[in-house]
Amino acid sequence: MHVASLTIRNLDEDIKQNLRERAAQNGHSMEEEMRLILASLDQQDTSLPKPASVDVPRLNPFSSEVLDGKQILLIISGGIAAYKTLDLIRRLRERGAKVRPIMTQSAQEFITPLSVGALTADHVYTELFSREDEQDVGHIRLARECDMIVVAPITANLMAKMAHGRADDLASTVLLATDKPVLIAPAMNPHMWHNKATQRNVKTLREDGIHFIGPEAGEMAESGEAGKGRLSETMSIIAKMIDILDDRPKPLLGKTAIVTSGPTHEPIDPVRYIANRSSGKQGHAIAAALAELGASVKLISGPVNIPDPVGVDVIKIERAEEMLDTALQLLPCDIAVMVAAVADWRVAGAAGEKIKKKKGQSVPTFDLVENPDILKTVGHHAKRPALVVGFAAETQNLIDNATAKLKRKGADMIVANDVSPETGIMGGDRNRVRIVGHDGVDAWPDLSKDDVAMRLGKLISQKLAEIVV
Ligand code: CTP
Repeated sequence: MHVASLTIRNLDEDIKQNLRERAAQNGHSMEEEMRLILASLDQQDTSLPKPASVDVPRLNPFSSEVLDGKQILLIISGGIAAYKTLDLIRRLRERGAKVRPIMTQSAQEFITPLSVGALTADHVYTELFSREDEQDVGHIRLARECDMIVVAPITANLMAKMAHGRADDLASTVLLATDKPVLIAPAMNPHMWHNKATQRNVKTLREDGIHFIGPEAGEMAESGEAGKGRLSETMSIIAKMIDILDDRPKPLLGKTAIVTSGPTHEPIDPVRYIANRSSGKQGHAIAAALAELGASVKLISGPVNIPDPVGVDVIKIERAEEMLDTALQLLPCDIAVMVAAVADWRVAGAAGEKIKKKKGQSVPTFDLVENPDILKTVGHHAKRPALVVGFAAETQNLIDNATAKLKRKGADMIVANDVSPETGIMGGDRNRVRIVGHDGVDAWPDLSKDDVAMRLGKLISQKLAEIVV
């Protein structure tokens, strides 16, 4: 049986005592313990989505541009969660969206038009028949002159009105009059969400093509209540909006790419290794950019301290030999971009146990052997990808060295950068590269590593299209 929600103070005394003891044992508050019990019950009930701890998506650095310049009509209806909408407004505006707000009568019981107006820097529309508002834009224009409508939070009542086509205030009238995509973010008491009437309305609205985000499971603002009914997190709402609005071309759709990134660690013994200063920032950004352009991307990453890029399959390795094995297993593919700063040498016969200092004995010496060259192996492979891109990290004779690498390694393009310490490129957020190809050199300006990644991704799409034609 699914238990939608419970109120602790309404429980029988002995159950309450049991819960108190269980919570104390697990080091939780009673509310938290109850939430976990409800969550595990929900997990057994396959008809419900997992009420895991709220999973907030990270946004790909390139996807926010979708919101730039977009006109969002934001309808705020009543509910305690309305305060979270203030944060949504700020995050949307940070991404360049223009937010025009409509507040229902009940929304104004929870947050003020003054704060909404200040954050949106727009007039707050509240009345269906307001001489001032009607002269200004009018409800039909409000409904049409936007790229999308978002209702956050939406109450059970407003959902019921939408499902039945009622138009008795400005919000419901605009929702009936619009021809734009509509995203709704419900927030209500779990009993109201699970009520059969609400669930009927949810079904109708889904069939009508209304987009939903949430509600999420968890603790409710009302003390002691837990269940499904929380407003989704701001970033989840924004990610969903981007999904709906994104109409950018995906030139790499259907293409597969491998990207290597980060340093490799070559063991000396179980606790020591040879490494280098690569942060993985540029390689990871390239993987994210290729994914953003539609490619299916496998990122082979050495040990780094940065998060996995969004929308990319990450395979973590440590040593150069592991990186090569992984890359070869992933052939054939359409694109290979080798950004990793692979250690050139590894210690021959790394020790199986930690090497100890011994009194009176000289310091240990190590024989180094050369690591396999991953770019060169892939560049000359029978299953060579259609486009092979390498990097050249140099501290002198940039173009000559890059041109030599282009030929030696069988690449189509080398992204050359000067990694002298004074450039700050190793570990920094910016990069200044030259693109060395078989037809010449192109110098790019100083850019963020994300911008280099997207520009390279677009160049790769272009080159690939030329090869295929
Ligand atoms: N590379 C590779 N495997 C290696 C060494 C390098 O795949 N064992 C790739 C890098 O990912 C990069 C390119 O080759 O795309 C050039 O790397 P770089 O370190 O600049 O050159 P090296 O080949 O190591 O040459 P050198 O040390 O002489 O500059």
